[in-house]
Amino acid sequence: MAFPETFLQDLKLRNDITEVVSGYVSLKRRGRNMVGLCPFHGEKTPSFNIYTENGSFYCFGCGVGGDVISFIMKIENLDYVDAVKFLAQRAGMELPENSYDDSMSRLRTRVLEANREAARFYFKTLMSPQGRTGLDYFHGRALSDATIRHFGLGYADGSWGSLCAYLKEKGFKESELVAANLAVRQRSGNGVYDRFTDRVMFPIIDLRGNVIAFGGRIMSDKKPKYLNTSDTPVFKKSENLFSLNNAKNSGSRELILCEGYMDVIAVNQAGFHNAVATLGTALTHEQAALMKRYADEVIICYDADEAGQKATARAIPLLRGAGLNIRVLTVPDGKDPDEFIRSRGDDGPNAFRALIEKSGNDVEYRLQKLRADYNLETSEGKVGYLGACVKLIATISGPVERDLYIGQLCREFSVDKASFMAQVDSELKRGAREDMRRQNRRLLNDLSGRGDRLDVDRAKKPRSSSAEEALVAFLINNPDSLGYILGRVTAEQFQNSLMKRYFVYVSERIEKNLDPLSGISGDFTEEERSRLFGILHKRSGIAESRRALDEYIQVITEESRKLSHRQVEEMSAEQLMASLGKLKENKK
Ligand code: GTP
Ligand code: MN
Repeated sequence: MAFPETFLQDLKLRNDITEVVSGYVSLKRRGRNMVGLCPFHGEKTPSFNIYTENGSFYCFGCGVGGDVISFIMKIENLDYVDAVKFLAQRAGMELPENSYDDSMSRLRTRVLEANREAARFYFKTLMSPQGRTGLDYFHGRALSDATIRHFGLGYADGSWGSLCAYLKEKGFKESELVAANLAVRQRSGNGVYDRFTDRVMFPIIDLRGNVIAFGGRIMSDKKPKYLNTSDTPVFKKSENLFSLNNAKNSGSRELILCEGYMDVIAVNQAGFHNAVATLGTALTHEQAALMKRYADEVIICYDADEAGQKATARAIPLLRGAGLNIRVLTVPDGKDPDEFIRSRGDDGPNAFRALIEKSGNDVEYRLQKLRADYNLETSEGKVGYLGACVKLIATISGPVERDLYIGQLCREFSVDKASFMAQVDSELKRGAREDMRRQNRRLLNDLSGRGDRLDVDRAKKPRSSSAEEALVAFLINNPDSLGYILGRVTAEQFQNSLMKRYFVYVSERIEKNLDPLSGISGDFTEEERSRLFGILHKRSGIAESRRALDEYIQVITEESRKLSHRQVEEMSAEQLMASLGKLKENKK
């Protein structure tokens, strides 16, 4: 059973899309719409639109669109039911009785509850005699009791079963513990055992304070050194960051991005609460976009070793792409931030602050790194280096920033500024030409529908697809035309299966006197829904008349009469004659 329609309508009425979105995106009025920087992909010029009249949003940069419910699903990382609950709570509405609580949503709740209990259990164990080894380990790594408490650190003992026993006692089912990845099923299929044993534990907490996962470190040199919760119904490694819950409240629009748990904790203990880390994987687009929601600048603070430097080089374009300013902090003596802070004893916090203050932006960092590739004692080396600098500087979007580096290099290498500028300019033009070519290619592919996995019929049936698309958009914008349309076309005549589904869905809703699009988040996938809002966005500037409508109808009718080769092959001679006769009749 889904939520009652009247409830959903009320929900949307009381959760004005502009108001809800303003909590996440700063919006400006543009004509009848509101625009802002898209929270779902990095950008510097706004392509995220709110259409206040129909309560929808669409980003023409990344193609995500939907209504207020789908917005919350995406930005809060919730499924449909939880997003509805979230909005109901926001508006102080009661959920309707026995409205649906599907099993997935129930499981998610249980997994979160199990995780919270597990975190308590690990912490209690750490503080008990059985946890002595764990506590000694943390103390040995210079963590204070306050820090241990603040991060809710814990200890998983070596018994392979104490957590399972504890949680079963609390009423959790084995299947729930396995779903949470707190337990693993025995090979034999009988019973479960603890996933984490003999490790110190780091709970991973999301922005709403839920314990969503754990990392566990072994205290010897056994492998793997760190073990993380695998992806579960409440956790995706690639979309979360360790300690973002702390960093969010640090009051700073700056984040310190570290490599690991212990670095983040040591940096926190030194007084910098805005540190985060990825969870044992390389930085992803999702994580960069997540950081952009809470920060304008990221200080990359990876290990000084080769792996750390490689990771830095990979992270820079990702973070830049998300619209973040970047600085790169270099930890001296080949140490990681945790080791560095500890090595300075009481002076650790000050010494680390000095590193932050000294950290240069990513361009300086990369210009510096490039030097190692050339022998600057020779003329060829200098020319090669400056050539590489031209390429790098041409990737900077701000002219003032470009000018700054050009000036510095020209002074250092005594070269003529005008000619250096000319080289950067020609590199910029080349880049712009390439961008244009790429855009054109994408546009061509879009128009022809080639390589469109969502709408597979478009490439084969371009003419009917466009007409059907236009008809669907017309119908959504003019629900009162339904009777007129249904008197002239039926869904069976649609050649494009995706457009047909939209048409059937929308006309059924209008027939029942419902808003054509509310509820769509529950019935279509995110991609399908976004595509429909994309169509509406694309056509929003087109003035539609009944004349245009008649044209769409005519094209759909014509195209539906055309027989496909396969249909002809499969027909008997009589059937073929009969349908040819019908065609002739229609032409008259
Ligand atoms: P400590 O040795 O405890 O100081 O950890 P570290 O952070 O200095 O270790 P390292 O630089 O080796 O690892 C950085 C991060 O990568 C860790 O915090 C983990 O998130 C992750 N990591 C390291 N080793 C493993 C591993 O064996 N498996 C997984 N999944 N992740 C790991
Ligand atoms: Mn370390």
